[in-house]
Amino acid sequence: MTIIDGKQTAADLRTAIKQQTDTRIARGLSKPGLAVILVGENPASEVYVRNKCNACEEVGFYSLSKTFPYGVTEEELLNLINDLNNNSAINGILVQLPLPEHINEEKIIEAIDPLKDVDGFHPYNIGRLALRMPVLRSCTPKGIMTLLASTGISLEGKEAVVIGASNIVGRPVSLELLMARCTVTTCHSRTIDLEAHVRRADIIIAAVGIPGFVKGDWVKPGAVVIDVGINRLDTGKLVGDVDFAGAAKNASWITPVPGGVGPMTIASLLENTLQAAELQSS
Ligand code: GUN
Repeated sequence: MTIIDGKQTAADLRTAIKQQTDTRIARGLSKPGLAVILVGENPASEVYVRNKCNACEEVGFYSLSKTFPYGVTEEELLNLINDLNNNSAINGILVQLPLPEHINEEKIIEAIDPLKDVDGFHPYNIGRLALRMPVLRSCTPKGIMTLLASTGISLEGKEAVVIGASNIVGRPVSLELLMARCTVTTCHSRTIDLEAHVRRADIIIAAVGIPGFVKGDWVKPGAVVIDVGINRLDTGKLVGDVDFAGAAKNASWITPVPGGVGPMTIASLLENTLQAAELQSS
């Protein structure tokens, strides 16, 4: 069994992005610019937004964050997005999710210029991925594909089982795996005999948000396990959706939590922001 080191892979990516950014600036072009919008006081979201802005700084991007109180109106958010769509110093716009109940998330996402949608959540970008012509790809799924590529294993024809069907991870990663020519099964809360699906998987992607949901003995010998879960136990310990110790006995490759998929999401966001800047200057 080999650990898939997301922390190292993400650090290598950031180094490469910094280099490409320096080259871009030397060509006389602007710094890639990212705008992050945060609504309300969700402590986890605040940490993510801070980490995203710090990562921008590290690779030489321009970043700005706008924070709104919980009671912000849809109109105020739409006005800001409209301004950012028209601001040439901003190449990427990210609205941290979840948004408060009174805000229509779809409406907000659809207001973002698809070429500035560095989260890859706009129907345009999801549709392009579904048609095998991706432009900006969702960050966590993209990071997962980068980790799978880092193992050097061929994905073609493999049985991939995705557990979770969210718009942010489950659906786009299923489309990514399909584009990579896996045979893909997307499991969700209504799936009958989920264990049987997982047991025949060559590649398991767990994105359910329940600690230890995937049992070690469900993992077929030699399978690759990608754990997207980030769950904090009452003890303060961070764990994934997979029983790591049990799964590690059977897996050929496995991501740890923390230090697996987590660091890749922000690295993919930086890749997307640079890509968006290049798209907008060509
Ligand atoms: N909330 C949880 N994951 C994400 C993400 O990747 N992007 C945004 N914008 N919000 C999130």
